Amino acid sequence: MTRIILGPLIGGLRHNGVNLWARADGDGMLYAWVGRKADLSDAKLVGASLLVAAAGYAARVPVHGLEPATTYHYTLTLTDRPPAAGQGPYPSFTTAPLPGERTDFAFAFGSCFMPGISNNGKTLWHLEDLRKPLDLRFLLMLGDQIYADAWWGNGLNRVALTEDDYRAVYLHTWGHPAWQTATRSLPVFMILDDHEVDDDWAWTSSERYEGRIPWWHPILRRLKKQPPEALHLSHRRIQAAIQTYWEHQAMHAPPLIHPPEGVKHDRPLLLTTDDGHFAYTFTYGPAAFFVMDTRTQRVYKQRMLNRAQWEALETWLLEVKDQFPVKFIVSSVSVLFEMWGDFTRDRWNGYPDERRRLLHLIAANRVQGVHILTGDLHSSHAVEATLQTPEGKPITVWEFCASPFEQATNKLALFDARKVRTYPIRSYRIHFRFAQPNFGVVQIQFKQGKPQVRFSIYDDHHPEPRYSVLTTPGEGQNNLNRG
Ligand SMILES: [Fe+2]
Repeated sequence: MTRIILGPLIGGLRHNGVNLWARADGDGMLYAWVGRKADLSDAKLVGASLLVAAAGYAARVPVHGLEPATTYHYTLTLTDRPPAAGQGPYPSFTTAPLPGERTDFAFAFGSCFMPGISNNGKTLWHLEDLRKPLDLRFLLMLGDQIYADAWWGNGLNRVALTEDDYRAVYLHTWGHPAWQTATRSLPVFMILDDHEVDDDWAWTSSERYEGRIPWWHPILRRLKKQPPEALHLSHRRIQAAIQTYWEHQAMHAPPLIHPPEGVKHDRPLLLTTDDGHFAYTFTYGPAAFFVMDTRTQRVYKQRMLNRAQWEALETWLLEVKDQFPVKFIVSSVSVLFEMWGDFTRDRWNGYPDERRRLLHLIAANRVQGVHILTGDLHSSHAVEATLQTPEGKPITVWEFCASPFEQATNKLALFDARKVRTYPIRSYRIHFRFAQPNFGVVQIQFKQGKPQVRFSIYDDHHPEPRYSVLTTPGEGQNNLNRG
């Protein structure tokens, strides 16, 4: 008997639909049921997808034709019998408002989850507790949704090497009850960072033939008696990691801008000549999001994004510039935060030309209301940077960072930060830093027709935020409140 072993979760949230996802332990068919009543007595069968071995028995059912800003209940089953009457309440989601609609809303974001290492899922339990009080509409997960290489916490006791290994790490990590509960009724948008493949990895050349990992890993892993294949990063291992990334995180995402070859058969191929990547965009009422893929086309010391993704980003900036008052550029690694002695250079600081290009694009096109969302650092922060524009009137860009849900925290970030000095930054200010397990909340509110964006950091138990900042896109004036 086939069973559902991960999920259900809600991906690809939009004004008229969602993608409902689950992973099973064998062959079968995944049926999606949606209704307005909590007991699903009015449920309709809205679609079904095959569960096949080649996709790790993971599948998403695209659901179309829903009403905007409307709450629905749902369930996924392995038979075509309607959900039993008298059960429930079933989990729910609320569809997005119409694109461009000026409406208030809030969402959460964060990154880095290795359950059992510090607070046993407490941050995600707390997120679930605050979901209703804060009226959170979705959760952005900015990377390190698993730690495939962390043999001491990935459930395998060794570095993941094969597709089955990576799938086992997903099962171990996402099977945690806090994760399951937090993602059941809060739609998710995900993007990978490094640990979905290996720590601080990059391709060695634009041919994308093999990967590299920092030099100390082979030494340490040999000492810890890890298998020989864990001492380097073969194409085969990257392929296995990206396959399982697709199965768990990408297949339920909004449509990719330029999908890698093979994706339409649920088998991304990573061909050497393929410009494809995993970036995507979406909108939620007055806000537009560009979710970058900073990893799968990264070439060590050469490039962070490939040309196809740069073009997409430029096009998007111009498209949303006047149409959406609030913009979010989602980057798994930090653009506007640097630390002394950060010799890994695994963030945008390692690709200074491209970082200038990104900031220059925003400044030269005078794009107001840009907020960068990031994670990865195992500490959180809010940074305000003023950019020089061609005619001299400055533009403000913010970076909001939330990390980790659960990981060893980075206390160094509290006193080791250094100013980011690069063209076209004119002034730079860190508003706060925080180095305990946390998640971020962004609230968008319209006051007299003008948007205000509040970023707050919540720890793993206080009902009130530990820090918060308020930005007023388009006005260049910002206030600070400390919680
Ligand atoms: Fe991390």
